[in-house]
Amino acid sequence: MASTLDHPRSDNAIFAAMEPHDCGSFANNTTPLIRNCWYAAARVGEINRKPLARTFLGVDVVLYRTEAGEPVAMRNRCPHRSFPLARGKLVGDRLVCGYHGMEFGADGACTHLPAMGHAPATASVRTFPIVDRGPLAWIWMGAPDLADEVLIPDTPWLSDPTWGTVSGDFHILCDYVAMHENLIDQTHFPFLHPDTVGTPDYARSTLTASTENGQVVIRRELRDAPPPGVYGKPANIMHKRVTRSSEARFASPALHTAYARVAVPDPDPGEPSLYRYNITHVFTPETNNSIHYWWFNSRDYRPEDPAIDRFMLEAHTQAYSEDVEALQWINAVVRTDGEEQFDLSFAPDKPGLMARRIMYRLAMSEQD
Ligand code: FES
Ligand SMILES: [Fe+2]
Repeated sequence: MASTLDHPRSDNAIFAAMEPHDCGSFANNTTPLIRNCWYAAARVGEINRKPLARTFLGVDVVLYRTEAGEPVAMRNRCPHRSFPLARGKLVGDRLVCGYHGMEFGADGACTHLPAMGHAPATASVRTFPIVDRGPLAWIWMGAPDLADEVLIPDTPWLSDPTWGTVSGDFHILCDYVAMHENLIDQTHFPFLHPDTVGTPDYARSTLTASTENGQVVIRRELRDAPPPGVYGKPANIMHKRVTRSSEARFASPALHTAYARVAVPDPDPGEPSLYRYNITHVFTPETNNSIHYWWFNSRDYRPEDPAIDRFMLEAHTQAYSEDVEALQWINAVVRTDGEEQFDLSFAPDKPGLMARRIMYRLAMSEQD
């Protein structure tokens, strides 16, 4: 149900601001990880003919490509004596264990056991559906019969040559629930990111939060305001007053997207009146307390401009490093401080709690 949150507010109880049906349990770092979801496994180029070990949702996985270029994901644990298969070698499309030489095809079936001279009929390694889509390969760690490729997130701007994109990645020691809450929470911008996306005006603008098809969406608009440096400087519009609007979306347990728009009512001759930025945050729980994180910042103007690329890469690496550092500090406190605390929540925290409630329900639905 849509609702409006005005900033700043002094409500000291989140539940007073929420509908009765909103009161429920919220995911945290102890909630079982959601398995029935497409998660990013790696950048497409990271998966090649050299086996790559990576952990997703607490399961060790080895990634490689067949000779035809198809990605393969299988459990990184030999069924014989648990040797990590990524330490073995590829022969054609078969992965050969480095301990006693068992061979496994791309479908996980054992094709040869040297000590017996043939393949035991029942020996196999679990494989996982994995699909290249845009710059990333997406993996399904849940029930195989539910792995519908239609559900892979669609981010067409990442493959569109009319958009310029800069990108980076992090390995973060925090839980993915906290990461989602961080991304849907814009009230931290002026304090954690004062030099990039945070401007005091923006923190005071009206924000709406709603759920749409299982996604949490927040929107806000600020008129007649100075542009934030991170969007105004590359567009060369810092001398203008602009309308700044944004939409941020908890899209799935694996994806958060944000769409920032900067409209210039009086553009200089020949210059655009609208600048569009799409921000794509992709992350995969490695464990309950660590995540793989890839970010992409895309713009719809001057896609090949290396100076803009440099600026965007530097500014966003700084901003996201601030988030990563904060999340890791919080995680360290939560894990080491011996005295329990029930975190207070306030009305502006509602979008994050909405996302956490969806994640909790998804996680619990898989426990039945
Ligand atoms: S541990 Fe892999 S073949 Fe023995
Ligand atoms: Fe942030």
